[in-house]
Amino acid sequence: MKIKMPRGTSDIIFEKAAKKQYIERLAIDLFEQFGYRPIVTPTFEHTELFQRGIGESTDIVRKEMYTFEDKGGRSLTLRPEGTAPVVRAYLEHGLASKSLPAKLYYCGQMFRYERPQAGRYREFWQLGIEVLGSQDALVDVEVILLLIRFLEKIGLKDLELHLNSMGCLVCRKSFGEALRKYLKDKMELLCIDCKKRVNSNPLRVFDCKNKKCQTIMKKAPLISDFWCESCRGHFETVKSILDDVGISYILNPALVRGFDYYTKTTFEVRTPYLGAQNALGGGGRYDGLVEELGGSPTPAIGWAIGTERVIMATEELNINLPLSSNTDVFVATIDGAREEGFKVLNFLRETGVSADMDYGNRSLKGQMKLANKLRASYVIILGPDELKKGICLIRNMNTGDQSEMQTSKISRWAKGEFKSGKVDFNG
Ligand code: HAM
Repeated sequence: MKIKMPRGTSDIIFEKAAKKQYIERLAIDLFEQFGYRPIVTPTFEHTELFQRGIGESTDIVRKEMYTFEDKGGRSLTLRPEGTAPVVRAYLEHGLASKSLPAKLYYCGQMFRYERPQAGRYREFWQLGIEVLGSQDALVDVEVILLLIRFLEKIGLKDLELHLNSMGCLVCRKSFGEALRKYLKDKMELLCIDCKKRVNSNPLRVFDCKNKKCQTIMKKAPLISDFWCESCRGHFETVKSILDDVGISYILNPALVRGFDYYTKTTFEVRTPYLGAQNALGGGGRYDGLVEELGGSPTPAIGWAIGTERVIMATEELNINLPLSSNTDVFVATIDGAREEGFKVLNFLRETGVSADMDYGNRSLKGQMKLANKLRASYVIILGPDELKKGICLIRNMNTGDQSEMQTSKISRWAKGEFKSGKVDFNG
């Protein structure tokens, strides 16, 4: 039996890998433009970080974590998300003492033991940002704007921004009580899990995938009826600035994201093109998380997108991502010219040109096929006759034009062609 990749994981190769890389580069350029700095945290953390950070009664902590004991008897967990680790790092390295807010971005794999289906995997990639240390409503708008601009830059259309406010701990308390009261009357109709949730954390009944529970929740009280003055005011400001900057949104008071840490503004971007797994990304404020993890009260906000879902959405919309050709020049050789070709290859690379050659003893025809496959812009052909004359043949793969060039002029040609875009075949 051949060994296959584990269920819910994927090998990202060929075009998919190029698409992933394109999306990540685009995101990183945009993050940097908006003043965000990179952070890389470990792929696994102490289990307690997620238990305390995400919440004991969330589906992620109860059912979806890859938790294991290491050889030293510690309980560790492959990170199911990036926010709690960023907050842990923020506290561990005293980032609060640096200039605030801390504006950070990350890119990495996350792990959740979910039932795999299209757009839902056990290992998947996220790109995300977190801003720690500001309660300014402008920051709420900045992060939402960044999310929308990024998805638009990729070419995605018909994006739906769902917006809600989860209120602060005060509003959440009265909301929780009202929800519990509502659910207590319907106890016998709820699934076993939700029966337990009614007492421990009634908010989490919103996450249940059971049809009966979902029907009951359609008539449940909404957080919007329990916002305190200050949370209502914050939300009004966020909405009005979003209007000013021309970001449209759908108010969705039932948007209760599956983490306990959310407070105030929460949002999710959905696409009509992905079926059941329609959330491309989501996030919100988490003004209590830094304190929950041992720091002083620090407002914070962020979001993450699922890279695979973004790629799927581009495919559904037939968006041709401008994937760059990896190879500018392919060096093809005939008979005894391989070593000379290798010299030309290295010479081109030193000039800053991306260049490649065949290492599989292919015929000239085979080498041209390979150059095509690599989407090379030019092929430099070297054979014994050319070597004797100190020249090479150069073929433009887009037009099919072929001419001779003195080997000594390759560097000048390459510099002109790939830096200024000008081709000068005769040196
Ligand atoms: P999340 O909504 O759980 O939020 O995940 C963000 C995105 O990751 C989702 O919208 C989806 O595109 C992708 N995603 C989630 N689970 C899977 C999966 N099993 N397979 C494929 N893609 C998936 C968070 O993770 C929060 N930490 C976001 C955040 C940052 N909130 C504040 N700061």
